[in-house]
Amino acid sequence: MKIPVARPIVGEEEIAAVADVMRSGMLAQGSVVTEFESRFADYCGAAHAIGVNSGTAALHAALLAAGIGPGDSVVVPAFTFFATASSVSMCGATPLFADVEPRTFNIDPDSVGALIRPDTRAVIGVHLFGQPFDVGAVRALCDDHNLVLIEDAAQAHGSEYHGKRAGSLADLACFSFYPTKNMTTGEGGMVTTDDDALAERVRLLINHGQSQKYLHSAVGYNYRMTNIAAAIGLVQLGRVEGFNERRIENARYFNRHLAGTGLTTPHVAPGVRHVYHQYVVKLAAGYPLTRDAFMDALADKGIGTAVHYPIPVNRQPVYENEYASCPVADDLAASVVSLPVHPAVTDEELAFICDAVRELS
Ligand SMILES: Cc1ncc(COP(=O)(O)O)c(C=O)c1O
Repeated sequence: MKIPVARPIVGEEEIAAVADVMRSGMLAQGSVVTEFESRFADYCGAAHAIGVNSGTAALHAALLAAGIGPGDSVVVPAFTFFATASSVSMCGATPLFADVEPRTFNIDPDSVGALIRPDTRAVIGVHLFGQPFDVGAVRALCDDHNLVLIEDAAQAHGSEYHGKRAGSLADLACFSFYPTKNMTTGEGGMVTTDDDALAERVRLLINHGQSQKYLHSAVGYNYRMTNIAAAIGLVQLGRVEGFNERRIENARYFNRHLAGTGLTTPHVAPGVRHVYHQYVVKLAAGYPLTRDAFMDALADKGIGTAVHYPIPVNRQPVYENEYASCPVADDLAASVVSLPVHPAVTDEELAFICDAVRELS
């Protein structure tokens, strides 16, 4: 048996949609992107969606549209993928690293509150592994200090916070469609917002700051999504709820069958829909194996695992001067393991994984 920790699910429908675009001759940004944007905005419950060519581009454009630049600071969680913080640096601003909550692994509002400085302009909260962060508490801090709130929803398509979908929970939200994500376009991303002016600014910035053909009112980027990517995205958008339901079912199976094995299974905060981009367990203190030995033992049986993430972002060499103390992030980086939860994992494979884990405990 070979069970990868992540696998994109694309089939004949995606292939046919791409072939249609190839035959149309309009490969770059065009009407297919517009349709995908409109359907994605509806899916999120947001007024606007702007397609871009990666989640990193989405974050960079969202921050720039919010006016973030040199001399500003932006609070980000220490435990996330690098791009959450690097997009702040790409604007010439400084990321301030907040610690995360020990149970949800999401940004800790108390840590955010302690970091806010006179130059702080925004907070990026990450819906890590598919679970929305504590939007209510972080929103309250942003309102008190007049800060822009941005969702990094790269891992959380279809997740919900008190009945509202990711993408409609903050001033701006950013998605990734990288192949391992809950839905894919190959590479791609999306910015969503309810704010007309911010949407217009994002559109300008992702297309060379071009307000009319060959008239440039800002220095922007080429972050445009292609019709090819959007064609894949439209098909995947029709499938993502099925994918998410299967991820949730798989996670419930793990929750039931991994109890008592010495692994701490994911905690789901009240009022949220977790869509399990990753199913991340912690090896409890006193677990009989080191993490490497645990992963090696599963690898010997063909079970893929991964560590998301082995080094907190505040400890990355590039940020060593901005080092902040984030003990929960440090603990998680040393103890988490992701198990295969993606929709292609079969019932038989789930049972096989749980048996293999049980044998180790
Ligand atoms: C939390 C988070 N933010 C941002 C990104 C960046 O997205 P992309 O790889 O599409 O640039 C990713 C994806 O890897 C991510 O997981």
